[in-house]
Amino acid sequence: MTEKDFIPSNYLKDIVSKRFSWSSPSNIALIKYWGKKKNQIPANPSISFTLDVCKTTTELEVCNKTTDEDFSFEIFLDNKIQNDFRSKIETFFYRVETFLPFLRHYHFVIRTENTFPHSSGIASSASGMSALALCLMGIEKELNPNMSNILFKQKASFLSRLGSGSACRSIEGDLVVWGKHEDYPESSNLFGVKYPFEVHDNFKNYHDTILLVDKGEKQVSSSVGHELMHDHPFAETRFQQANTNLSKLIIILKQGLLDDFITLVESEALTLHAMMMTSTPYFILMKSNTLKIINKIWDFRKATGLHVCFTLDAGANVHVLFPDHEAPQIYDFIRNELVVYCQNGHYICDRVGFGAKANQV
Ligand code: PMV
Repeated sequence: MTEKDFIPSNYLKDIVSKRFSWSSPSNIALIKYWGKKKNQIPANPSISFTLDVCKTTTELEVCNKTTDEDFSFEIFLDNKIQNDFRSKIETFFYRVETFLPFLRHYHFVIRTENTFPHSSGIASSASGMSALALCLMGIEKELNPNMSNILFKQKASFLSRLGSGSACRSIEGDLVVWGKHEDYPESSNLFGVKYPFEVHDNFKNYHDTILLVDKGEKQVSSSVGHELMHDHPFAETRFQQANTNLSKLIIILKQGLLDDFITLVESEALTLHAMMMTSTPYFILMKSNTLKIINKIWDFRKATGLHVCFTLDAGANVHVLFPDHEAPQIYDFIRNELVVYCQNGHYICDRVGFGAKANQV
């Protein structure tokens, strides 16, 4: 597949007015994407669990265009006009117009809402961009009804990637790989693919409780963060490490090796933060409560032998990961010992999910 395969030939139909709606989840990377080339091509492959509870629902209404602007649209978040998102959407439309030529022909009303609070410190870009990309693919399918389901999903992931890299891993579940890797036959830098190998029951229905340590604006946007990998002294070694970890994960997931999973996932999270601590300029994105939670998890794991571990995004919040069969004891531990470190006691109990869904409109 190349980018050219996503440029449509002539559309077979036209639309007068229609609505499309999709709900698309967030995802949490086990092996992190950090560093990119031009056009959101990742510097290394990554893999994530698709989430279930944290998601965005977007409705896209297609109407007659009455202005001569390049792109004509309105955007609402929780039923309130949201002009802060305009420039991001406009940039996205310019980036994808070659692949969706209809974008200039209609007016769009975008209505979006998240299951998690906007100011929770949880990035809504993965769920938000993938939900919008899927609605746009709804239009494309309407214009070109012969499109296969495979192409629909690949192109939805491809477009999501152009909106926000990691968003391309939100279309499907429960594990998605993005980025070319020689051990993963169908893997691509252009879009995410479902994890193609056997997964042990230990990793089915895995839990992710998100501890909201800091609900403020991100200290470093991910675009700035990716940029910092360009002249980073350890970049090449890091990219190599991610590739090696992708290979190791195949055996871990197949054989249900929980201890090895924990070592790999926690190392990935700390490496991501180590990259930020050693870039120029440098950043510490963890807060003191992030470290307290990590130490509590380590103490609890040592004392109980239970398989709870953490991962981090590019921020202070902690994702607490654990297998389904140990969930009751670990939920007790979270409630009794970790929630105290969350801002206003806020946390979200999520788990692995199976990807985006179309809604009836
Ligand atoms: O998709 P972006 O550009 O917001 O980058 C996401 C980067 C991390 O969340 C830190 C890691 C990942 O792979 O999701």
